[in-house]
Amino acid sequence: MEMFEEGKVYELLLVTKSNVTPVGVVKKGNKFHFKLFEGKSAKDIREHPYGVLHITWDVDILVRTALNLPCELEWEDSKTIPLKKIKNLPNIEGKIEFQEDLIKDSLGEARILRCSLIPSRIEVFPVSNPPLSRADFYLLEMAINLTRLYVATRKLNVKEAQNIYSKIWVEYRTYKRLGGKNKLAEKIMGFATAALRWNP
Ligand SMILES: Cc1cc2nc3c(=O)[nH]c(=O)nc-3n(C[C@H](O)[C@H](O)[C@H](O)COP(=O)(O)O)c2cc1C
Repeated sequence: MEMFEEGKVYELLLVTKSNVTPVGVVKKGNKFHFKLFEGKSAKDIREHPYGVLHITWDVDILVRTALNLPCELEWEDSKTIPLKKIKNLPNIEGKIEFQEDLIKDSLGEARILRCSLIPSRIEVFPVSNPPLSRADFYLLEMAINLTRLYVATRKLNVKEAQNIYSKIWVEYRTYKRLGGKNKLAEKIMGFATAALRWNP
């Protein structure tokens, strides 16, 4: 638990009954808090309120799971809750308490699920990692902004969609300048262009 600074947002992988997705998680006291926008994970938690939070430094997995792209993962049973979890990744198992809420941001009003995971088992072993690269953060930002672009185009918010698209383009250029080689960058640029062209 000491590796988590109180109040800092960490990008973790949330495993629920039928889904894996990245979430921004904040530790407060002995609980882990996160917000979920409408989607498969929120639906899963309403039906089966258990989750596993995994720590990964693998941007490829974070981006693929955010965009529902194919991702090769190995699974095993959790020890304290009725749920599968990803094999060989540091993890926190627990029951999830949740509350429905409405929030307002630049994309308008959205229904969210405020969740707290109460740990029943923590398995955080030392892992040797390649050093993080600044390029990877730009790839992550591109993925986050693409999920926001989908919301803007779904709401027919053309101005916000164009604004988000411009950000993704600038992030793409920076990613390439920093030596980023993952083909997901081109894929995201393609998805973003298609979203802007076909939706608004
Ligand atoms: C690094 C990263 C962090 C994210 N954090 C959140 C989050 O805290 N809450 C959320 O609802 N979506 C978050 N997203 C977006 C979701 O991954 C994306 O919307 C996903 O498709 C959720 O829908 P699902 O539950 O149907 O899979 C994040 C995406 C990325 C790339």
